[in-house]
Amino acid sequence: MTRPRVLQTIALLPALQARLAESFDVQVLAAQPDRAAFLAEHGAQFEALVTSAASGVDAALIAALPKLRVISSFGVGLDKLDLAAAAARGIAVGYTPDVLNDCVADQAMALLLAVARRTAEADRFVRGGRWQPGTKGTLQVFPLARRVSGARLGIVGLGRIGRTIARRAAGFDMAVRYHNRRPAEGADAAGWGYEPSLVELARWCDFLVIAAAGGAESRGLIGAEVLDALGPRGFLINIARGTVIDEAALVQALRERRIAGAGLDVFENEPNVPAELLTMDHVVLAPHIASATEETRQAMAERVFDNLQGFLRDGRLISPAPLPTP
Ligand code: 8YV
Repeated sequence: MTRPRVLQTIALLPALQARLAESFDVQVLAAQPDRAAFLAEHGAQFEALVTSAASGVDAALIAALPKLRVISSFGVGLDKLDLAAAAARGIAVGYTPDVLNDCVADQAMALLLAVARRTAEADRFVRGGRWQPGTKGTLQVFPLARRVSGARLGIVGLGRIGRTIARRAAGFDMAVRYHNRRPAEGADAAGWGYEPSLVELARWCDFLVIAAAGGAESRGLIGAEVLDALGPRGFLINIARGTVIDEAALVQALRERRIAGAGLDVFENEPNVPAELLTMDHVVLAPHIASATEETRQAMAERVFDNLQGFLRDGRLISPAPLPTP
């Protein structure tokens, strides 16, 4: 029996690659010396595509795969997947929600704590040999940090990940409010207040955490007005997508100290990070690693495989992505 032919856009975790290769006939597009020629010659052979949230799939690639029936994506973000093009052809799309909620929320808290408590700066301080005995009975000169416990947390996007962050905030006795297009179910009961105005949420909170999905609808949502409402005592944390923030406005606000600091896991044009941010001590940077733990990446890999296998066996995805009506 011939094995289903699967095209993979890029190389993924070695264990996932190996598992895919055991069950399917897999080719990796990124490994082809001439992508266009490869697709022209072999595109019609593939019934499945494996990609990632970062790599995505555009309409041109979908068009180059006329027999494509299913896409299985590694990641929860759908912003780089042309869902309309998939829906128009009746192609099913699977992704990996939920399994990464905990680790992404953990990273939000890690960045929040790091920027408020100056963790990375303190590490540089000690490593740089700058921790010297105080003179004239004074304490060490490392600048005072800001208190996290009991502070106000504003969450932009109270979805699966936003809720997981809100639950963690309870452990820090934080007051939580959120902004969504509509009030979120169960939020009231959990004690998370709905704030219909994003600017008012920013004005209210000490820490504004971005957990909204990327894509056209949220592009540039956090601009100068929101940053000024957050103000010189407020911190911005982003574990969602760089595109949700107007990055130039953020850099300017940080430069002018119109906000207190930022913890950023994601950027507008990854892996490029605005050079100015690299010089700022009130910014903590991470290379888009919120889901990047061994455990979570393993769980994501399993879901990618299970989605693919489930669909190819009996037409059922474990986690189908919501598709627009064609
Ligand atoms: C992924 C992510 O690590 O799931 C997402 O949408 O952004 C991350 O968890 C990354 O995109 C993998 O491609």
